[in-house]
Amino acid sequence: MGLVYKKFFGLRANPFSVSPDPRYLFLTRHAEEALACLMYGVESRKGFVLLTGEVGTGKTTLINKLLELLRPQQVATAFIFNPNLTVPQFLDYMMTDFGIPCESKSKSQILIRFYDWLLAHHRAGGNAVLIVDEAQNLSEELLEEIRLFTNVETSEQKLLQIVLSGQPELEQKIKQPQLRQLRQRVAVRARTYPLSAAETKIYVGQRLRIAGSNGEQIFDPESLEAIWRHSNGIPRVVNQICEHCLVSAFVDQQREVKVSMVDTVARDLDLDDGNSSPLMPPPASVAPDSKPGMIEMLKTSTQLTERLRDSESESPKKEKL
Ligand SMILES: Nc1ncnc2c1ncn2[C@@H]1O[C@H](COP(=O)(O)OP(=O)(O)O)[C@@H](O)[C@H]1O
Ligand SMILES: [Mg+2]
Repeated sequence: MGLVYKKFFGLRANPFSVSPDPRYLFLTRHAEEALACLMYGVESRKGFVLLTGEVGTGKTTLINKLLELLRPQQVATAFIFNPNLTVPQFLDYMMTDFGIPCESKSKSQILIRFYDWLLAHHRAGGNAVLIVDEAQNLSEELLEEIRLFTNVETSEQKLLQIVLSGQPELEQKIKQPQLRQLRQRVAVRARTYPLSAAETKIYVGQRLRIAGSNGEQIFDPESLEAIWRHSNGIPRVVNQICEHCLVSAFVDQQREVKVSMVDTVARDLDLDDGNSSPLMPPPASVAPDSKPGMIEMLKTSTQLTERLRDSESESPKKEKL
């Protein structure tokens, strides 16, 4: 859709696209903690990392940021975003994404090739990460295959790090007795949470600024409060409401969005009446068995902040995704 309202509001890009674009990443305390956990899990080479959170709370966005941070390092990555695959399809996709040439279609041959590659890559000082998004959809068979990957290890380190990202059902799924072995290997747990009312205000402002707004007020404070109530702080829903409000305001040739408009948009979008209070998030945590690594994790987190700063100053703003 051509964004007719862009010019009207002085914007260069669509500020409220629902694509998981890491350039728009807003690091709430929780998001920063989750990203630090992911980085720590990968860098400490502990094997399994779990990222869970409700739909639309920023998991895929964080993964894209993680990929961006890993790119300049010697970390090979494979990213599977739709795991509704059979085992052969999964292996094929993974090998291709890692860039490992393999002619054979036989599972055992593929695995031998994969393990040889992991070892060679490790010896050359590299790390490797397999990321599976929407992992709540993984079949039990695939989860078991993936678990077996973590058997490839030296005495101290896993040669392959695995990030499983998914909706909270993922936690339930791996609680099943037959997946006990997998659950025991989860070294780090990261979570995403809805935004608080205060965060929602900053979030909307930041997205507008990144999209080129000159800071002129578009959403008044009450309308922002209403956006938070109707969305329960879920960023994806915040984006939907905001985008619809900009269209409505443009149609009415109004430069400011008022609370009545937010309420109308929320009703049209069939959202609740905004009376249910969003769940307050508990602090993000690391699995108990990784407690001794807490200091390292904080170090990683500091490095992370520095790296984020660097990546911000280095990367020129691209016009398109
Ligand atoms: N921390 C955040 N900063 C910026 N945008 C976010 C953040 N969290 C979520 N979003 C936005 O919300 C929408 C949904 O995020 P997404 O990563 O797809 O969620 P999930 O994968 O958890 O369903 C996307 O448009 C994304 O850009
Ligand atoms: Mg997602």
